[in-house]
Amino acid sequence: MNKAIKKEEILNNMTLKEKIGQMTQVAPYFFISDSEATVYGALRNLNINKEQVYTIGSILGIGGPSEMIKLQESYLKNATHELPLMFMADVIHGYKTIFPVPLALASSFNPEMARIAGKISAKEAYSSGIHVVFSPMCDLSRDPRWGRVVEGFGEDVFLTGEMAKAMVEGFTNKGKLGKDAVACCIKHFAGYGASEAGRDYNTVDLSRLSLYRDYLPAYKKALEGGADFVMTSFNTLDGVPATINTFLLRKILKEKWQSKAIVISDYDSLTQIIDHGAAENQKEAALKGIKAGLDIEMASSVYMNHLTELIEEGTVKESEIDEIVGKIIDFKIKIGLFDNPYSGANQASESEICLSEEHMDLAKEAALESVVLLENNGVLPLKKKQSIALIGPFAKSRKLIGPWSWHGRNDLHKTLEETLKDNLVFVSEKASYGEYTDEEIKQIKEADVLIMALGEDESLSGEAHSRSNIHLPNDQEGFYQNFRKIIDKVVVLVFGGRPLILSEFKDVDAMMMCWFLGSSSSEAIKELLYGEANPSGKLPMSFPRNIGQIPIYYNHFNTGRPFDPASKNMYLSKYLDVANTPLYPFGYGLSYSNFTYENLSISKDSLKANETLKVSVKVKNDSDLSGKEVIQLYIRDYVAEIVRPVKELKKIRKIHFLPQETKIIDFELNYDDLAYFDHEGKLKLESGKIGIFVGGSSDKTLNKDFYFIK
Ligand code: GLC
Repeated sequence: MNKAIKKEEILNNMTLKEKIGQMTQVAPYFFISDSEATVYGALRNLNINKEQVYTIGSILGIGGPSEMIKLQESYLKNATHELPLMFMADVIHGYKTIFPVPLALASSFNPEMARIAGKISAKEAYSSGIHVVFSPMCDLSRDPRWGRVVEGFGEDVFLTGEMAKAMVEGFTNKGKLGKDAVACCIKHFAGYGASEAGRDYNTVDLSRLSLYRDYLPAYKKALEGGADFVMTSFNTLDGVPATINTFLLRKILKEKWQSKAIVISDYDSLTQIIDHGAAENQKEAALKGIKAGLDIEMASSVYMNHLTELIEEGTVKESEIDEIVGKIIDFKIKIGLFDNPYSGANQASESEICLSEEHMDLAKEAALESVVLLENNGVLPLKKKQSIALIGPFAKSRKLIGPWSWHGRNDLHKTLEETLKDNLVFVSEKASYGEYTDEEIKQIKEADVLIMALGEDESLSGEAHSRSNIHLPNDQEGFYQNFRKIIDKVVVLVFGGRPLILSEFKDVDAMMMCWFLGSSSSEAIKELLYGEANPSGKLPMSFPRNIGQIPIYYNHFNTGRPFDPASKNMYLSKYLDVANTPLYPFGYGLSYSNFTYENLSISKDSLKANETLKVSVKVKNDSDLSGKEVIQLYIRDYVAEIVRPVKELKKIRKIHFLPQETKIIDFELNYDDLAYFDHEGKLKLESGKIGIFVGGSSDKTLNKDFYFIK
């Protein structure tokens, strides 16, 4: 098809109202009253009439292929133009086969896991007729109080970018789309993860330095991965709501990055600019949206009800609308919507493809790589003959797949009790010591090992679910301590969608951060407990010792009075009541193997801007168990015009080792890996000493320095 003719032809045949309709997205409920989609916010009272409904350009969410087909048929029958609906949905970590939550996928430190999660989720979503997914979330966050850290990839810009790009490549078939692939709408642009005090929808006040260095790069990498859409965030940036922020949408996205992505608001975030105090009324909101570069508004009718007037009075030109609608038509042509408005929607293939054994196995592989072993004094791996007592709120729970699982169903998947049943001598989901009878405590004592399945419910994570107190709820600390006192071997499994305060569990025999691992959670945990798989996850976010330390992250500045435990000087940057270090640092995670690092070497003692530095390190698996290790390479630019963090992750390699196997791991660094963004977002690097740090955790590395010569 010749796109140029088709697009112009379509545009010329459209009325202004039909064009404006393409810039509006609503939930299916406007077309199907008994749709499964729930309706929140401004969507409830959208005063749009039946004629306007049949100009709508896209749908938010869908109950499945049959609903999509029914809706598209009805729409095409009633619409007075020829543009089929586009269907967009929140497929965050799976459609029906659910993968570990994104924060858990990040713990794998293996972008391939994100790519596979994207690919499989796309295949399943495609069979339901979905064209675009609102995923991945590229929001870096350093605040575990924020409910949405569960949807992101943690505190580090490099890891977030690598995981986001890989997931986009998986969803979109590297941007090529086509059968079994879906387009990506990355989110939330930009800086949403810096919501003040971790309170969702709160103010974001970021320096341009941090915006360029920490918060923007992952969106850019995700666009490079092949994303076609960008969703604006609810927050303000520099006091201007992101949804109407010309600096973000035009200066950065369109001009600096040369992106052609279609920009869509978040859920009624265009109307919210009135609440922000950035517009007097909806008409002004519509004007600000167009001028800033917002193409589609989600779940509100500001454009639909005010753009015509703005055009009639000449404040907005119809050519500005044509440019936007032209982008939407281009995309609908790109995904073949005019040739087949139903795309991959097919009830039979959806039923056959979703939750297949192959997909469940891939979800389990990802889960196996996402669990982080935090403590182990040798009690793990368990032995087959050991008897187990399993207690706590997650002992019998099916709520293991995690929040934002949309079409995922907890009831389809196994509980820990079901997967560990062969060795269980006692199980209870009671979660306080006082509820246990003497007889029950006697039975627990008779078991070889007590496993306590603890944590926060999945309903305490996700959008609008921030917590000011990130201890385990309902005094699970006391619950643990009471059993710790009387039981010899205690293993704690922690479920949750964020770093939690685990300081009260430091005397445990073994502890795993299990996050929410998706459809194959309990099977994966069982294999890890018995050593059928060897834990290889690393923390993508620092775990604070207490809430007062937040925000705490590894790539901090040194300050002018860096704390030195050996110094007698009290005037140093510290707290009186807690160490500066986290309980568990970024990049930390144990294995049943024991990996040792030596012989860190670099190819040059001085490096010019156009040269490449080769780094190599010898890593040995000094154990009789094969396992995977994440070799992490950090840098430190000791002196720069703008001070730089004490460490910055620049490379990761997840490598499998056989028992007693030694490998030489090589990395290459060039100028772009070493340079830094200044306040204007320009890359720069002065001459000077730079440190290379390589190891299995941000706090345990070998070091070599070299000189960069400009
Ligand atoms: C929500 C979320 C966004 C999601 C959108 C559509 O409010 O902020 O992540 O994709 O609405 O459901």
